[in-house]
Amino acid sequence: MKIIKKIKKLIKIIKKIKNNSTLIPTMGNIHNGHLELIKQSNLLSKITIVSIFINKLQFNSLKDYLNYPKTIKKDLKKLKKNKVNIVFIPNQKEMFPNGLYKHTIVSVKKTSTILENINRPKYLNGVSTIICKLFNLIKPKYAIFGEKDFQQLYIIKTLVKELNYNIKIISIPTKRNKNGLAISSRNNLLNSKNKNIAKYIYKYLLQFKKKIIFQDYKNIKKIKKNILKKFIKKKINVESLKIRDSKNLKKIGKKSKKAIILISVFIEKIRLIDNIKVNIKKK
Ligand code: PAF
Repeated sequence: MKIIKKIKKLIKIIKKIKNNSTLIPTMGNIHNGHLELIKQSNLLSKITIVSIFINKLQFNSLKDYLNYPKTIKKDLKKLKKNKVNIVFIPNQKEMFPNGLYKHTIVSVKKTSTILENINRPKYLNGVSTIICKLFNLIKPKYAIFGEKDFQQLYIIKTLVKELNYNIKIISIPTKRNKNGLAISSRNNLLNSKNKNIAKYIYKYLLQFKKKIIFQDYKNIKKIKKNILKKFIKKKINVESLKIRDSKNLKKIGKKSKKAIILISVFIEKIRLIDNIKVNIKKK
């Protein structure tokens, strides 16, 4: 496994590989969710490249950025064991040589001001900017992302289309713990009591899904209210709970066939997100 820290060296290697690789962008703290993406990559192509870069641009608060779990040594061991060929680990200066705040920003206008971005205005522009940089440098054939960050996946698919990248985006269903909790680096910030509480996020999403009859909008409001009460009882602070057409992230309309329920919550100070897909039954 090659570990590359400098862009110059990366460019040299990519010239040899051409566009035959699969890229898995990460911010490190490699967990079973990432390993699932790597498994898929090993099936798809001979060269798996994982990038590890905690992207300051996509954090709304410095504290959140500084608190992000950093486990580089362990990460490298796991990546090697799982047959990753190249790891790209640049530092901030390498990626943002002129400083962070003067850097060009890529903004996917369609969704960069809705849903997740309402509460975290820097998040999606930060993601789309860093993803474009990684795509330009690595020129992969495929790039793989998890479905847990659904809006992130949506903006990446959109920028590939609108900016004409010749890259196929592959999405992998959310990997969950035995109790249903979506695997995320942020889970490491939860104490064991809160980890136990966090299982209710998916449990209640499943209940919400079961109860939804999409054509009856009045009913949806009532169901949502009841679900929100359940979260309050468990001391889970729901920041946002939305149902959207999964094709375009717009509100459900008459033509909608597939929906997605998107949730973001706080358990104490830890922010967690999850989602669940729903097929809309026509009456
Ligand atoms: O999902 C993540 O870990 C990050 O948002 C990503 C895609 C690596 C961009 O920094």
